Amino acid sequence: MSTMDNLQEAFAGESQANRTYLAFAKKAEADGYPQVGKLFRAAAAAETVHAHAHLRVMGGVKDTAENLKAAVAGEGHEFQHMYPGFIAEAEAEGNKRALVSFKNAMAVEEIHHSLYTQALTSIDAEADLPQRAIYVCEICGNTVYDRAPEACPICNAPKAKSFEVP
Ligand code: FE2
Ligand code: FE2
Ligand code: FE2
Repeated sequence: MSTMDNLQEAFAGESQANRTYLAFAKKAEADGYPQVGKLFRAAAAAETVHAHAHLRVMGGVKDTAENLKAAVAGEGHEFQHMYPGFIAEAEAEGNKRALVSFKNAMAVEEIHHSLYTQALTSIDAEADLPQRAIYVCEICGNTVYDRAPEACPICNAPKAKSFEVP
């Protein structure tokens, strides 16, 4: 193991801790412990600080064109290779909840791939994307411009389940 490997492992661990603590915060709040929820959110924010520090040291943040290329490649890998394999395995094992989770993610990664590709075209022309609202479905992650759909085209959740990204 080298320090570069350690940075990668630490980045993965801190990133996972961030998302885990946010899920724990939601649960603590639902369970009636708002201050415990706040503590989870505080630690989650700190883990993001750590994750970003490790990522920068690894050279994982480049200029925006390079970052978009990395994002396109990552999303492409996920929807073309990773999730199809995971879905096949979940089907073979009869794990229905994993199947739904993987299928939702795969559909949305394909959308992200397309949105990032459009963004890269803009950046290549030295322009930011046009200013538009962006909505995310809190059930499946579906990501859409301008307005939330009446029913999510991926998971069928109602419009109220989509939130506008600040
Ligand atoms: Fe940390
Ligand atoms: Fe994605
Ligand atoms: Fe959805």
